[in-house]
Amino acid sequence: MEYISHSAEETKKFAQEFAQKLQGGEVIALIGNLGGGKTTFTQGLAEGLGIKQRVLSPTFVLMRSYPFKKGGKSLTLYHLDLYRLEKSKEAKALGLEEIWSDPKNVVLIEWAEKIKSLLPEKTIEIRFEYLEENERKISYNPNLSLK
Ligand SMILES: Nc1ncnc2c1ncn2[C@@H]1O[C@H](COP(=O)(O)OP(=O)(O)OP(=O)(O)O)[C@@H](O)[C@H]1O
Ligand SMILES: [Mg+2]
Repeated sequence: MEYISHSAEETKKFAQEFAQKLQGGEVIALIGNLGGGKTTFTQGLAEGLGIKQRVLSPTFVLMRSYPFKKGGKSLTLYHLDLYRLEKSKEAKALGLEEIWSDPKNVVLIEWAEKIKSLLPEKTIEIRFEYLEENERKISYNPNLSLK
């Protein structure tokens, strides 16, 4: 699947639609360079899930969580930014395995490349490529995992 976004707003809309497919239990690796739109996508996705809190990049805290409701179920969106992660050991300390094996959680991970070997088989990869100042190519294959 490929989508060309012409603005941050379009990326958010795309993410809002993507959010509608989520049931809980998904792990999504957001791959792409600085400024590719990973956080922008996450903000749109959170909006699409009905999350009213402002989603800020968890660059220093590595992880933030946001509760939401879907189909009468109480779920939680976890947003991770591993840019500053130094060792995958630190990722283990975050308790990620427990988080992503819970079907009540949706986990979005920026800079997931850093923990490639830890990611579960079910991980969905979304790639962000910079084309021009306001243009990004977003691509994903729901059947493709990083492993
Ligand atoms: N089509 C587009 N889609 C997304 N963002 C865009 C687009 N065009 C321009 N931008 C701008 O690019 C920047 C994307 O920043 P964002 O923080 O989402 O990137 P990121 O991939 O999370 O980067 P980082 O690796 O630093 O976390 C924003 O300033 C946004 O306004
Ligand atoms: Mg970011």
